[in-house]
Amino acid sequence: MNKDQQKVVQYLSEAHAHEQALTRVLQSQIAMTPRGSYRTLLETHLDETRRQTDRIERRLRTLGQGGNAVTAVVGVMQSVVGQALAIGKTPIDLVRGSGGEEKVLKNAKDACATEALEIATYTAIERLAEQVGDAETAKLAASIRAEEERMLERILKEIPKLTTAVVRADLRGDSSYDLTSTGAAEAVREAGNAARATTRKAVSTAKRTSRQARKVPGVAQVEGQLKGVVASEEDLAIPRYDELTAEEIIAKLPGIAQIELAKIDSYERINQNRSTVLERISSLRGDEPWTGYDELTAADVIAVLNECDDDRAREVREYERAHKNRVSVMKAAERELTTA
Ligand SMILES: [Fe+2]
Repeated sequence: MNKDQQKVVQYLSEAHAHEQALTRVLQSQIAMTPRGSYRTLLETHLDETRRQTDRIERRLRTLGQGGNAVTAVVGVMQSVVGQALAIGKTPIDLVRGSGGEEKVLKNAKDACATEALEIATYTAIERLAEQVGDAETAKLAASIRAEEERMLERILKEIPKLTTAVVRADLRGDSSYDLTSTGAAEAVREAGNAARATTRKAVSTAKRTSRQARKVPGVAQVEGQLKGVVASEEDLAIPRYDELTAEEIIAKLPGIAQIELAKIDSYERINQNRSTVLERISSLRGDEPWTGYDELTAADVIAVLNECDDDRAREVREYERAHKNRVSVMKAAERELTTA
């Protein structure tokens, strides 16, 4: 490879790394942006950015630089999992229900800066490629630059609207930011549906049922956790929560479903953060007969019971007694234990 080509490869590789980083930034922005035109714009540009990354990669390969360094990084973070993970990074004050509008506006301003940088990057690549006689790369850079220019224009159009939302929320006390409609919340719900579908399938394939059901992740808990951070006192499964002492709360915790425990856990962490309460919750949350149990219907559990051993049936009986008290499930567990 001659010096001219090396320079082109260097610039393209930098642009490639930048697009990959942007994929992650866009995902975390989508995670904290409620449904609406700005979110749609981000989602569209996420797809566009992935295609740009591919196009640059292909060009680099043609230029003899398609090796591992370039292709390695793309992975898990580009999937829906990335969005769900981003919940963990959502700033706590945002999750507490204040400042959401302002955070989205700030993200949008950052996105403008990012797009401007990309426009400059592709302008430089185009000129460089032209001057070293690489028409193919010049064409690619011009085409990507046009996409970035459109994106910048569209974000700029969103800015006044996003600012109006800040004025309404922060100055007029009329918040429109809805955590439950953010990309992260929607990703969690989708994951929940997928997990439930998987569980149902597992239940119908009799033999390995109980083993498979064990693998279903506790999506209800994540969902509860997310709801808890925006919950107010009256949303909790324990009435007059704020007036109760830690001891009184601890006495009421057994018997509460996992999703509600998760909600209380988040609420407690944000408010009084008493270690005694949190410790009791975490010991109760480990109690499910298998992970994901709480998301199953009574019929699902009974189907598993028909296939499982005594130990598992005993665990189900104890858990139901302590938490959910579903007569049909307890009867089925009992039957399993007496016929065995
Ligand atoms: Fe881009």
